Amino acid sequence: MKFNYHAVLYFFLLTVSFTALGQSGVIQAGNVTSASISGQQVNISLENGSAQLSVYTPSVIRVRIDKKQLGADFSYAVIGKPQQVKVDITQNDSQITLVTDSVKAVVQKKPFAITFYTPDRQIINQDETGLNTSWAGESVTSYKKMQEWEHFVGLGEKTGNLDRKGSGFTNWNTDTFGYPATQDPLYSSIPFYIGIHHGLNYGIFLDNTFQTDFNFGASNNRFSSFGARGGELNYYFIYHKKLADIISSYTWLTGRMQMPPLWSLGYQQNRYSYYPDTEVLRIANTLREKRIPADGITLDIHYMENYKLFTWNKNRFPDPEKMNAELNRLGFKTTVIVDPGIKVEKGAGAYERGLTDSVYIKYPDGQPYTGQVWPGWCNFPDFTSVKGREWWKNEVKFFAESGVSGIWNDMNEIATWGQKMPDNVLFDYDGVKANHLQAHNVYGLQMIRASYEGARQHLKERPFLLTRSGYAGLQRYSALWTGDNRAEDDHMLAGVRLLSSLGMSGVAFTGMDIGGFTGNPTTALYTRWMELGAFTPYFRNHTQLNTKSAEPWSFGEDVLDISRSYISLRYQLMPYLYSKFYEATQTGLPVVRSLAINYTHDPRIFDTQFQNQYLFGDAFMVAPFESTKDFGKIYFPAGKWYELYNDEVQQGGQDKIVQLNLSQLPVYIKAGSIIPMQSLVQTTQQLPNDTLTVHVYNGDTPNSFVYYEDDGKSYAYEKGGLYKRTISFNPANKELIFGKAEGTYKTHFKLIKLALHGFDSNAITTSGKKQDVKSVRYFWLAAAANTDPTIGPQQPESCTLKYVVIKNEDSVIKINY
Ligand code: GLC
Repeated sequence: MKFNYHAVLYFFLLTVSFTALGQSGVIQAGNVTSASISGQQVNISLENGSAQLSVYTPSVIRVRIDKKQLGADFSYAVIGKPQQVKVDITQNDSQITLVTDSVKAVVQKKPFAITFYTPDRQIINQDETGLNTSWAGESVTSYKKMQEWEHFVGLGEKTGNLDRKGSGFTNWNTDTFGYPATQDPLYSSIPFYIGIHHGLNYGIFLDNTFQTDFNFGASNNRFSSFGARGGELNYYFIYHKKLADIISSYTWLTGRMQMPPLWSLGYQQNRYSYYPDTEVLRIANTLREKRIPADGITLDIHYMENYKLFTWNKNRFPDPEKMNAELNRLGFKTTVIVDPGIKVEKGAGAYERGLTDSVYIKYPDGQPYTGQVWPGWCNFPDFTSVKGREWWKNEVKFFAESGVSGIWNDMNEIATWGQKMPDNVLFDYDGVKANHLQAHNVYGLQMIRASYEGARQHLKERPFLLTRSGYAGLQRYSALWTGDNRAEDDHMLAGVRLLSSLGMSGVAFTGMDIGGFTGNPTTALYTRWMELGAFTPYFRNHTQLNTKSAEPWSFGEDVLDISRSYISLRYQLMPYLYSKFYEATQTGLPVVRSLAINYTHDPRIFDTQFQNQYLFGDAFMVAPFESTKDFGKIYFPAGKWYELYNDEVQQGGQDKIVQLNLSQLPVYIKAGSIIPMQSLVQTTQQLPNDTLTVHVYNGDTPNSFVYYEDDGKSYAYEKGGLYKRTISFNPANKELIFGKAEGTYKTHFKLIKLALHGFDSNAITTSGKKQDVKSVRYFWLAAAANTDPTIGPQQPESCTLKYVVIKNEDSVIKINY
């Protein structure tokens, strides 16, 4: 018989490739072949790849897995560095064990699989036996056992239910004009979620910028999974007893927001687009005439000449500096929109400068990539290169020179007409060199990085940055709004859940287009949305080209009154709100707080009928409902709650049907809350009077509030130019303590008016001195017509409270009741 070499070789190759790929084309990571321990890290060789576990903090363990040798380490998201911590790493034939004070990770060797335990050996999270980690082509996925009754929350800007169980999601930044309220994906990618089961909670952050996919039991009842279409499976496992601490660890890893300029927390008036300059000034003047407090006017694309970046349309805006100065005089700051697309036009300034500096992203043959957006055919700066960012930072000077204070980064997914940007466009990716598949999801993040750094360089005061697109860590540079929603009830509610989810994903400064971007809201919907807007971090009214007017006076006198009341209330709440933003800069905790943060293990909060409820800061519980509803069911989590408008007390742990009233948003205050407020102002540039009113709600549980103040605009706070003190409420000792003030900034407030809700005592002393206690009817929405909320206008509901006025001193102030 003749020996057929070819046939043997063919058979051999076929066997080898079947063994590696499996007949299905899926490669499993396989067994651990060797492992070496080095300090806080263990390096692992696998049958079909390699892995590494590193301890970052006692609560944060990083896992890297690749089908080849692990490459150089690079991340746009992570800024936290491994801390030196106590960790014990050991191995034997069957497993490798890493033990910290907070968590224990066990790596099984045959096959490679990871289980995370609490110190008392409860399973927190484990690879699904038999599936573990595998590749299908370039896609890599980790499969985790679905724990009994497991809930999943977070994952950034994702529509759907608060509990993501049963759903799957994709991260691929997408321009979704007028998106349905169930759309996925949207504009930004934050591959970080939190799992909750058996009284435990953990976070997983998959740091991979390719398209990533998450499955929380969609189309299967076996596992939850996360994976990427390329690159390493690189994830951080975070475990804490409290969910809030998971958010803090995640934001320790990916960074926290900076103190925003105070004006950016004021009301912002927008539309696509206000022009010419006289129209912009008419809007500003009308806000003032109608006594609607406001701080911002935003200019959409029509301020540019043919939508060309870094230009002013001189017919519409002949003297932008003068207009901005006039707006400033009226107490407004100007924000302008920027898009990444630079119009290809010979002789056009920015375009030519970009060509000279060779900043545009290119095809492999060296031709710049050209795609169509507002101005027509455009080139796009490579924000993933130092050169591209430096170029942009320099261009941003243009806005500083025209008196602009805010930069609104739009279309940075990248959005191009046709929505099919080619995969073979190349990016520098800060020296790593990447194609579009890897760079797409971080383009927006790198754009806001350049805008922020440029603004910081050229603007005298803290800038306000807004973005539509982003990736994990975007909070370091910018606020985010949820893009082109629709003027529909389910969008308002989906928007609330988007903000809640973003908050659990590290982004505290968020907003949605109040009133809806596409379409025209009904009068009822507009009213509800404006009320709700006052309880969102970035409060901006915006609407699409060619829709009806949507300024607060466009829906009749009643709506104007209601909008004014809620905007006024927000301005009075500014000391509370600013302090909550300060908290976000320190702990990463959001301003819009899903009930999952504080009431994580109460299953009722996941009930879809209650999933839109949220806390604004830690004091207010907001219960949003469709504007068409006459009745609504509200769930009160454990504790005691006061109805905002009348102080009616509601015991927690139960639900209640309430009658809804379009002129009042259902808002409740948690017992024990401490809420500092100021007198009404029309803009944050106006000083309130010198009394800080501190509302305290009686309850059984101690509470504390970190009060924060600074000049609201400069960077002096970074060097101690701040005023900060802890206000503590201790019901066991019947005392309230204003801690010693810290920092070099002098508070504006000379007096403190303590507004006491639910307190019986008339014997109130400060440092042993008896105080004069007064009783008064208080109207929360009175601000509409008066600066003194104790003189009630038409608003029927009021509460009765006791108050005392004391001198504000920087030393400790002790109040007993
Ligand atoms: C995009 C933005 C929208 C803006 C419009 C025009 O659709 O999301 O807010 O008004 O572009 O610039």
